[in-house]
This record gives sequence, C-alpha cells and structure tokens, in this order.
Amino acid sequence: MNTGIDIRVERSTEAALKTAADVLLETARSAAAGGGCISIAISGGSTPRGMHRLWARSPYASAIAWDRMHLFWADERLVPYAHPDSNFGEACTDFIDKLAMRPTGVHPVPVAGDPESLAQRYEEELRAHFRMRGLAEPVFDLIILGVGADGHTASLFPGSPALEECRRWTAAVKGGQPEVWRVTLTYAVLNRARRVVFLACGASKAAVVRRVLTAWPPDLPAQRVRPQDGRVMWLLDPAAAALLESPVGAAAANEKPPS
Ligand code: 6PG
Repeated sequence: MNTGIDIRVERSTEAALKTAADVLLETARSAAAGGGCISIAISGGSTPRGMHRLWARSPYASAIAWDRMHLFWADERLVPYAHPDSNFGEACTDFIDKLAMRPTGVHPVPVAGDPESLAQRYEEELRAHFRMRGLAEPVFDLIILGVGADGHTASLFPGSPALEECRRWTAAVKGGQPEVWRVTLTYAVLNRARRVVFLACGASKAAVVRRVLTAWPPDLPAQRVRPQDGRVMWLLDPAAAALLESPVGAAAANEKPPS
C-alpha cells in the first residue's frame, strides 16, 4: 500500500521547528491516551536542534509524558558521547538533561567497540524494547528524520550496501560529514513506523527537497522511506521549499511516474 506524502511549508524556520515540536506533543498525547509507552527515534545534525531545545521548554517540558517516553536514535556517529559530533551528546545538552526522563527511557547507540557488534547490540536493544511492548516488529510511534544534500537520511547514504538491508534493523556504515563509522536504522525499521516526519530547513536543502519530492524513479535514500502502514510528512521552511513549484504538485509527482 502506498502512503500519501503530506508536505507542509511553514512561514518561517521558527514556525517549522515549532510544528515539528508539536508533532511530538500530539504523538505523545495519542500514545499516552492508549495507556502505553511512547517509542520515538530522532536524528542528529544541525536542523533538529532548535526543535530539541523547544522540547525542554514550556509547554512541551510539562505537557509531554516524558516518563512514558522511550527515546532512540535513527543514527549515531561512533564518537564518544562528550564529542561535539555525538548526536546523543547534543541531545543531552539540548533537552534530555533538562527533563525528567527515566534513564531506562533513553536508549543511546553504544559507541565504544567495533561498529558491526555495536550495530548488533543496538538491534538487540530495539528488539527487547518492542518485545516489551508485545511487538515482534519495530513499530515506532514517530521517527524524525533529516535529509542531506546528497539525499541521504539517517546514515543511509547513496550507494551504501545498508540501503539493501531489509532483514536487519540496524547497520554499521562509514560515511557522511563527519566521515566516521556510524550505526543507522535500516528501512526494515523506518518503513514500519506509524509516523515519519522529515524536517528540512534552509536554502541548502532546496535542491534536494525538490529532487526527493519530484524525481522519478525514487532512488534517493530519503525517497525510499515509505512506511507501509504509516504517514510521511515533509516539514519545510520557505527556503527549503523554494524550488518546489507547488507542494501539492510535488506530492502528486511523487506518487506516480511522470506521464
Ligand atoms: C546525522 C544525521 C543525518 C542528518 C542529515 C542532515 O547524524 O548526520 O542523522 O542524517 O539528518 O545529515 O543534517 P543537517 O540537519 O545538519 O543538515
């Protein structure tokens, strides 16, 4: 089943970051209404930091049931948590250390050891978490992703063998900026999520946003995130949307090969 893509262009970067922060609030509320815990995965890089900082402030700090939250990473650079390139380290600075999250609810990627066994360890942690939720499949309530100028998302880079991994939930890859070993979630997880939000801001993203939302065939890594039972939203600021003829046109163009 093909899911529709919802493209949302906000009037400013701040508005896009706020809408992204609100998506977690909504997700947390509906998940908590079901009485269960909330499983989310976030990304690194510069774009989401403004959103992460909003989570540590009102209304999000008190309105989101952080004590029910299980926080994972869509990818991580295998550097020490205190290193400036650590996605977990940045998240601690931006919101985790400021919120009443239970340590058992925070699931950073292990970073000391050989990349392959670290990827396997993170897969085991994911499997244990979803087993605890009575699920055999990795069904995140929300995954927030970014996109690189080359069309990568998480640490799924163009040409990487990890793109073809459809059984394992994680993979060890080397690449990106900074060019380091990383652990990334695979499509086996990204395409099982209930909701995926791509957050892209700034003129440096305009060309890739246009390609991802209009190019056919959909062979860029970010284009292959199509949750089979989930929703995808592209949340953009005006600069990132600048090369889109019209968001609606782009959504339609992404649905079928050009006539
Ligand atoms: C990472 C990210 C990566 C990121 C994009 C966009 O750890 O590098 O998860 O996938 O989302 O590279 O990064 P920026 O937001 O910094 O442009």
